[in-house]
Amino acid sequence: MSKRRTFIQQLAMLVPVIPVWKILEFKDKSATKPITIATWDSGVEVNEAAWTVLSDGGKAIDAVEKGANFIENTINCCVGLGGNPDRDGFVTLDACIMDDKYNCGSVAFLQNIRNPISVARKIMETTPHVMLVGDGAKKFALSQGFKIEGKRLSKQAQKEYKNWLKTSQYKPTVNIEQTQSSKSKVPARLQDGSYNHDTMGIVAMDQNGDLSGACTTSGMGFKMHGRVGDSPIIGAGLYVDNAIGAATSSGQGEEVIRICGTHTVVEMMRLGKSPEEACRIAVERIVLINPEKARLFQVGFLALNKQGEYGAYAIQPGFNYAVKSNKDDGVIFKSDSYFK
Ligand code: GLY
Repeated sequence: MSKRRTFIQQLAMLVPVIPVWKILEFKDKSATKPITIATWDSGVEVNEAAWTVLSDGGKAIDAVEKGANFIENTINCCVGLGGNPDRDGFVTLDACIMDDKYNCGSVAFLQNIRNPISVARKIMETTPHVMLVGDGAKKFALSQGFKIEGKRLSKQAQKEYKNWLKTSQYKPTVNIEQTQSSKSKVPARLQDGSYNHDTMGIVAMDQNGDLSGACTTSGMGFKMHGRVGDSPIIGAGLYVDNAIGAATSSGQGEEVIRICGTHTVVEMMRLGKSPEEACRIAVERIVLINPEKARLFQVGFLALNKQGEYGAYAIQPGFNYAVKSNKDDGVIFKSDSYFK
């Protein structure tokens, strides 16, 4: 038997024992444009929605809005009106959007409006401001034709809120999001009813090579009424510099805000770091503030550079993200993490 044949046979014996996640970890992560990338397993369907725009030669800004709208319209623990209530029983939504020309719009502490990302886009495109919050944001949304919806909690949220009221304790739990199946319309809840976060972040590059991003969430479950996380903060939950790259985040927003997380990631890419290295540096910056405390929460960053390369890094294992391009059709990657 030739040496070559023996080698191929040995290789064939090895292949079935390599876990699928491992294959994805080592996959070449450079891409052709257009491309869309979104946080968590549910990012697969979000990317599908964004792809309907990108594959038709559409703009990245339209694609990320469409992707965000998709998940906002799905009953979901972590995004939109079906999401987690705060500790007073109200669902409050945060979102932001940014295009390839530093235009950005943001909405925070918004109640009873279905698509906060589209309100953020309207703020970006029709007002001199970047951010509107609370009643002012709602008033603006109504003036733009958005309707009041979701006055009652979704059935699942009601049940969970009732559960939570029994102890009224907020216990951060790593990776609540990963319990959410991309195929399921059923909200993801932990067995003990606890939640911690979070968020759908999408970054995309269109056929023209232009970048945009969107970030939308109902925020941390059972947060204090009025609490706003990183997701509507430009430079924390989302940042786009069309010359360099785009980044978004998911996880415990307070920790992301502290280091201006996604702005940090983009600046690291500006210095020549790969998307994954840039995300790792931002994660390490958070961990080093208080390594013991960092064991108790999750933050993940996801980035795409101007060359179409992408990558992610998280504090804890379990931060998945989905990619769609002509090369990668609905692929889910597992990011590397600080704690193994
Ligand atoms: N990352 C979402 C939040 O903390 O609200």
